[in-house]
Amino acid sequence: MNLEPDRKIRRLLSSEQIPYNLLLLADETTEAIDGYIHESEVYVIDNEERFIAVCVLQPVDSSVVEIKNIAVDRKYQGKGIGHSLLSDAILRAREMGYSEIIIGTGDIATRQISLYESVGFKKYGIKKDFFIEKFPDPIFEDGVQLHDMVMLKIVL
Ligand code: ACO
Repeated sequence: MNLEPDRKIRRLLSSEQIPYNLLLLADETTEAIDGYIHESEVYVIDNEERFIAVCVLQPVDSSVVEIKNIAVDRKYQGKGIGHSLLSDAILRAREMGYSEIIIGTGDIATRQISLYESVGFKKYGIKKDFFIEKFPDPIFEDGVQLHDMVMLKIVL
């Protein structure tokens, strides 16, 4: 297995299978993913003929785009791939003419939040009780139940 993969980020073709296994690292259920994946642009990184990372961009309106899902195969985490995907998403959003890019995560997800801040995202709001209202079962991250979603943005 090549643990230093080619970092080439490309758009998933409509003929290719949606990488649910990766998307489920960042989202709770396939139903939640199906709620946005078909109206989004999906970007992937391949290594040895399988996907090792994914980033999903969903237009919110004509001026705002949201990173709905970003995930890196566990074996490849911590190698800068998430950082590359975020930088690429910001560039694409700017090129596509959006004026803002946003991303949301659990308010206790401190490592993700630091990663997003390291590429320029700034906190601008909280979706109170998001994880309680959206999902029937409690969701835990590192043993702590998620309640609120923190929203971050970059003005492009
Ligand atoms: N594992 C390793 N590093 C993490 C993780 C994690 N699970 N989560 C956040 N990080 C932080 C680290 O603190 C590290 O910071 P440092 O460089 O200062 O030490 C940094 O991210 C690592 O940066 P990268 O190597 O560029 O990130 P990576 O390739 O691991 O991708 C990602 C980060 C996407 C969060 C990845 O770890 C992952 O897939 N996690 C599981 C899915 C997930 O939580 N996705 C985000 C949910 S929110 C959303 O999708 C909108």
